[in-house]
Amino acid sequence: MLRVMQVGYGYWGANVARKLVASRMFELVYLVETDGGRRQEAEKKLAGSVRILDNYREALKTDIDAVVICTQTEYSYAIAMEALASGKHVFIEKPIATNVERTCRLIDRTREMGLVLHCDHLMVYNPVIKYIKKMTEDGEVGDIMYIDISRINLGPIRKDINAMLDLAVHDIAVIDYLMGGLDPEYLSACGRKLFGEKENITYLTMKCGDTLININSSWVSPVKVRRMVVAGSRRMLIFDDLKMDKLSIYNSGIDVEQGSEYGEYEYKTRVGDIFIPHIENVDSLQSSLEHFGECVLEGKESLSGPAQSLRVMKVLERAQKALDEAG
Ligand SMILES: NC(=O)c1ccc[n+]([C@@H]2O[C@H](COP(=O)([O-])OP(=O)(O)OC[C@H]3O[C@@H](n4cnc5c(N)ncnc54)[C@H](O)[C@@H]3O)[C@@H](O)[C@H]2O)c1
Repeated sequence: MLRVMQVGYGYWGANVARKLVASRMFELVYLVETDGGRRQEAEKKLAGSVRILDNYREALKTDIDAVVICTQTEYSYAIAMEALASGKHVFIEKPIATNVERTCRLIDRTREMGLVLHCDHLMVYNPVIKYIKKMTEDGEVGDIMYIDISRINLGPIRKDINAMLDLAVHDIAVIDYLMGGLDPEYLSACGRKLFGEKENITYLTMKCGDTLININSSWVSPVKVRRMVVAGSRRMLIFDDLKMDKLSIYNSGIDVEQGSEYGEYEYKTRVGDIFIPHIENVDSLQSSLEHFGECVLEGKESLSGPAQSLRVMKVLERAQKALDEAG
């Protein structure tokens, strides 16, 4: 069992702690939370099995193997750097940092110390995304013409990062995974700071090879939407994460046929069957944690480790520049 310390027990940290306690791979030894109210909540939920602390520094000197960081992004970088310097493997909530420079420093320290750094791009571990990946690899989707994603909901309005860093990070990681690495040749973004200093709604558009990508991220939507359309030349897919049957595979598209004259083409609409595959519901957060655990035990690099985190952060930083330029 890997002995771990978790830092941060807010909204998301409570989920992470629950998974760690339930897992046979981890022993949650310490939980650190600076807020008194949240510490009391942790005492109620985890009393007995876990030591609840208000500071992580002393526990870093103990024999724990890893640190799981679930604080707000503005604090996670410093904690991760200290944990790595103390020889602890690090699981860090997304986004890995606020910019490329910090991401590179985390990666350099990880490599220097021979440790595992895993960013919780949990959608990469989602069973539907894995299914789509397999379909694309098997040629069932065909050439991907475009990917259109909406990840929108009403609040919470975060103050340390904008909606793109908070939400689009998942989508960029997923596209990076599906396409085997994302380095768009075209990128544009615009957004609005409706409430506070950071953009609460953003639109990010990219072109990668022949694939057009559009990602809408928002905390100012009346309804929650988690929807991804992958339009392939052979099949079109709709992944709706809020539905029971999450993936619909459409045998629909536009077929190109030779017209009556030489060099003339006709575009025929193809409306075919819709297939809904049965995909076993596996919890993505649990899979992400377990993948981290396996990487530590086997000494291998995480799928959402340094390489992917850097590619994702490079896209996010370019997108931030585009947002700033758009005004
Ligand atoms: N992977 C996902 O799908 C997902 C979903 C939601 C949030 N998140 C990420 O999880 C992280 C936390 O988000 P949240 O919504 O839980 O935020 P939150 O504000 O609810 O919780 C953060 C907690 O960290 C505590 N904290 C801050 N500094 C600390 C320190 N030095 N020591 C101990 N505790 C400290 C705060 O007191 C707070 O309780 C963010 O990085 C966010 O992006 C990930």
